[in-house]
Amino acid sequence: MNSETKLPAGHKLEDRRGRPLKDLRISVMDRCNFRCPYCMPEDQYHRDFQFLHSDERLSFREISRVARLFVERGVTKLRLTGGEPLLRPGLVDLIGELSLIEGVEDLALTTNGILLAQHAAALKGAGLDRVTVSLDALDEATFRRMSGGRGTPERVLEGIDAAIEAGLDPVKVNTVVQRGINERGIYALLERFRHTGVVVRFIEYMDVGTLNKWNEKELVPSSELVERIAERWPIRPLEAGYRGEVAERWEFEDGAGEIGFISSVTQPFCGDCTRARLSSDGGLYTCLFAARGTDLRGPLRAGADDAELGQIIDRVWSNRADRYSELRAEGGREVRVEKIEMYYIGG
Ligand code: GTP
Ligand code: 5AD
Ligand code: SF4
Ligand code: SF4
Repeated sequence: MNSETKLPAGHKLEDRRGRPLKDLRISVMDRCNFRCPYCMPEDQYHRDFQFLHSDERLSFREISRVARLFVERGVTKLRLTGGEPLLRPGLVDLIGELSLIEGVEDLALTTNGILLAQHAAALKGAGLDRVTVSLDALDEATFRRMSGGRGTPERVLEGIDAAIEAGLDPVKVNTVVQRGINERGIYALLERFRHTGVVVRFIEYMDVGTLNKWNEKELVPSSELVERIAERWPIRPLEAGYRGEVAERWEFEDGAGEIGFISSVTQPFCGDCTRARLSSDGGLYTCLFAARGTDLRGPLRAGADDAELGQIIDRVWSNRADRYSELRAEGGREVRVEKIEMYYIGG
């Protein structure tokens, strides 16, 4: 560690609610090869949509440098996201660089899985620990409805198999559940992954971003899913794996594996939220529902040294008071109009 960037001895970086900084989620690519209506609806992200130019995105060197500064401040977990991170050329090289940072205990990737089969072995070889693959349905028509007509469930399943084969562990599956759209498919998904070691996690449909025309009626509360699953297979709750874990964990009583529920609408988990987010153009965001970030790319490219960059991070985190999901739960849902889009800062 560069001594200039060290926090004063005994100083622990915490936000205004006493939450430490533990995770950094890095969006490496604002583009995506899907158009999930709940994230990047096709009518908004059409052929002429202006995504970032490649020189507007942080370079691998810049990302690694920022990541190292975060690790020096207590981050132990790095997750690469998008858009779709596997669209970023040479991603394996970035994984290699990040895996060399001392203090990174968990290096993970969130992907839609379409390009995973061809990259899984190389990602593992470069030092990636694990992957989380989005998969909303096994039924082809439902899958395509939720991916904006892109990709097939078979390709995603091939990607998942390749990840298991490569030794990425654990492999998790993220399923956003929307009322009347894919809720009937949850048994098929669980059936498919029971006894495989893959952890399926059901995500409550969130009012993230401004373009998905979120409607509470499309939300299926996790409590309802738990009941429905328990009608088919006996399940029991598990202890959280770590403080601030987003998913509530359950397991099949017959030993077939684990299931997760991410209930940010009905059971907000802001109190333990230790996550910072870096957009692909170098914006630092302290909440998934933030309206604005703090630019790190400007100072990076203007030659700021580690101490200067570190001070910006320290200031941003120390001033952080975000708890959007709790406020939404307390005061109705229209608590903020201006919000960053999810594809831009990653999930
Ligand atoms: P693990 O590291 O495997 O525990 O995964 P994770 O839950 O930290 O990350 P993942 O990318 O799998 O997150 C799954 C989904 O949970 C995201 O895509 C979001 O939909 C939601 N989520 C994650 N973090 C937050 C958060 O801080 N706030 C809210 N509201 N939702 C979140
Ligand atoms: N609500 C819940 N989850 C969402 N994701 C994207 N948009 C939303 C939303 N509005 C999920 C994706 C993926 C993860 C990165 O974020 O399905 O699993
Ligand atoms: Fe792409 Fe993921 Fe958004 Fe779907 S949810 S459009 S796969 S970034
Ligand atoms: Fe963290 Fe914001 Fe999500 Fe709350 S709403 S858990 S503060 S990212």
